[in-house]
Amino acid sequence: MTWHEVWRKHCGSLAEHFPPSLGRKLAVLDLGIGPGVSGIGILEQRPDLWLVGLDFSAEMLRHARRYLPLSGQQFPLVHGDVTHLPFADESFDIITHHSFLYLLGNRDAGLREMFRVLKPGGHYVMLEPNRAGTVTVVPSMKGPFQFRLSMLLWRVFSTGFGQFARDELRELLHKHGFVWERLDETLDGLGFIAVVRKPSETSKE
Ligand SMILES: C[S@@+](CC[C@H](N)C(=O)[O-])C[C@H]1O[C@@H](n2cnc3c(N)ncnc32)[C@H](O)[C@@H]1O
Repeated sequence: MTWHEVWRKHCGSLAEHFPPSLGRKLAVLDLGIGPGVSGIGILEQRPDLWLVGLDFSAEMLRHARRYLPLSGQQFPLVHGDVTHLPFADESFDIITHHSFLYLLGNRDAGLREMFRVLKPGGHYVMLEPNRAGTVTVVPSMKGPFQFRLSMLLWRVFSTGFGQFARDELRELLHKHGFVWERLDETLDGLGFIAVVRKPSETSKE
């Protein structure tokens, strides 16, 4: 459903919120990599990054292994659960995900792990469904029928799992120690991109 250009480019737009590389490859963890579309879209925008995709679904990773060679992109795929990340403390410069946090049953455990593996000063950039959005925008959204259908299903599905309100997300991330940077609505208000940071060792944020 998400294997098309509009979705891929939208996933790639997450990279617009990443910091510049400044002479070394930044390490990025894409959580809930699914069929790989988000990682592919991000690397198309920022080929200078070193990206790892993680998912707990072996079937999704099988799809990703099939799609990656077709995309011309290559990156490691890791089978794992966000609540027990198989990485050392402070391994990544950037954590990102597209449509992921809202799916987690145990968000606190997931966010604790994300905080642990992110470097001090590291960025955490996410796209999540916006509770304030309305499904009535879907028919007039730009893109192929498949994209509008995926938007409709995303809206319906996320209504069941839990969309985020801005303040609720802000409070949740703050509770886990992240410093709020900004939140921009996207996808005609159906989603938002939120950017937070792990405080740097020296700061008293
Ligand atoms: C909506 S998909 C993300 C879409 C994907 N990033 C893309 O490229 O289109 C969410 C993914 O999160 C994965 N997931 C859900 N809970 C997870 C968990 N606790 N740990 C790791 N992956 C998880 C699911 O298997 C699914 O593939």
